[in-house]
Amino acid sequence: MLIISLVVLAVLASLPWWLPARVVALRVRVFERINGDEGIPVPGDLAGVEHFGALYAHPAATGRSRGAALSDLFWYWLSPGPEMHQEHLEAGDTYDAVARVTRRLLAVRRTEAEELARRCAGRALRDARGLVRLRDLMMPLWAEFSYELVFAEPCPREARDLIAGNAADVSSALKCTSLRHLGRRKRLTAYLLRNLHRVRVPLPEGLTAREKAYYLHGAFFTTAVVQLSEAMAHLLLVLARHPEVQERARTGDDRYLDQVIAETMRLYPLFGIAHRITTGDIALDERTTIPAGSVLCFNYPAFHRAGLADPDRFDPDRFAGPGAKDLNHIPFGVAANRPCPAWRLAPIAMRAVAREVLDRYVLDSSVSHTRSLPHRGPCLLTPRDAPHRPGPALAYLRVRDRWEDVWRSLAQLVLGTYMVWDARRLRLCERHFEGSEAEKRHAHPGSTHSTRHCS
Ligand code: HEM
Repeated sequence: MLIISLVVLAVLASLPWWLPARVVALRVRVFERINGDEGIPVPGDLAGVEHFGALYAHPAATGRSRGAALSDLFWYWLSPGPEMHQEHLEAGDTYDAVARVTRRLLAVRRTEAEELARRCAGRALRDARGLVRLRDLMMPLWAEFSYELVFAEPCPREARDLIAGNAADVSSALKCTSLRHLGRRKRLTAYLLRNLHRVRVPLPEGLTAREKAYYLHGAFFTTAVVQLSEAMAHLLLVLARHPEVQERARTGDDRYLDQVIAETMRLYPLFGIAHRITTGDIALDERTTIPAGSVLCFNYPAFHRAGLADPDRFDPDRFAGPGAKDLNHIPFGVAANRPCPAWRLAPIAMRAVAREVLDRYVLDSSVSHTRSLPHRGPCLLTPRDAPHRPGPALAYLRVRDRWEDVWRSLAQLVLGTYMVWDARRLRLCERHFEGSEAEKRHAHPGSTHSTRHCS
């Protein structure tokens, strides 16, 4: 009896060291089983890393949503209104109109962007100290930042809470640490609908009020807030885990901080995979052609690692020398194929916020650091004028992180499987395009034009 108890105890105590990795592998297999294996991974067996840039930039690699089962999953996670989300709109007049407004809203002078980011950081950091989760700390900050970009006035408390609540919900669902809560998200859409008249630039003509609200909701109050919060959580966690880099970044010039940001995004790109659906055949070489209707899955982490002898080492100095321009580094996508419209603004704002944090605190952390950041970045913030004794907090964080990993990986398996299954059941993208085809046939009954279905 004693031996059995000891064995059970030993197995339980060892769970954090082997269970999470096995559960993650199982989750990947379950997702593949439900989703099928429609995608062509790039780089992969068919198209190597040498084809990555040319394929991504190919004029036939332009389909965004229609025709990929994967789109049903993204639309599910980004609801409500994924059909108006800029990232998932097909090329055409609506996309052009929406992209123009985004560019106008993001065309802020550098000094203004820095000043706005500093002001938002000042408010978000006012009472922060001790153990925090970096992503949670950052979301209200970027909620206010995005609000001011769109409305050009200070963000009311009600709006900040709605925006941060929506972004946290999307982010947690994407990582499968929680189910999506559409009620929470729809409250933000309702707020935007009531306030459309206050947006500081004219919104695209020809859209209904609800479509305009969905567009803003998707680009500025989901993507912008989620991406900036995730990117900052990665950056601050990297600084917390590398004290020598933190000190150099605090005392050094902006060039070094930019290198740290670039290396953080190389190692932890926010996009795991970006997909495109081919709208024509693409000849890779004399023997290989990728047919129209294929789903290309561009793997950012694999591309960023390719060609490096030590891809896992965090080394901001990679971006110091002349070799930097030869690195595979596309944290904001590729210029020729719908790159991120915040490509210029995001690093400026991130740098300003990083400076505010480094001026105020010493950061320490002992937790694991992975690209998906499911633990939201636990970190100790010690104000610079307080005694710095991180030892006990770091020991506590290390143990807590290990054990949280066990239950979190199990939760991700169950919740992720449910959401992937539910998204396949709802087929939001596929049904949307079936609906528009039916509308067209109704409007032009004689038309013999036929289209491929989504999956
Ligand atoms: C550090 C922060 C950010 C990173 C690393 C990032 C990264 C990216 C990447 C890689 C893409 C292209 C994906 C693809 O090729 O499919 C993208 C697209 C996009 N991003 Fe960002 N992003 C960030 C912040 C933002 C912000 C602040 C906004 C604000 C509006 C934004 C809005 C968008 C939109 C609308 C698209 C779709 C572009 C299009 O299809 O025309 N992003 N982002």
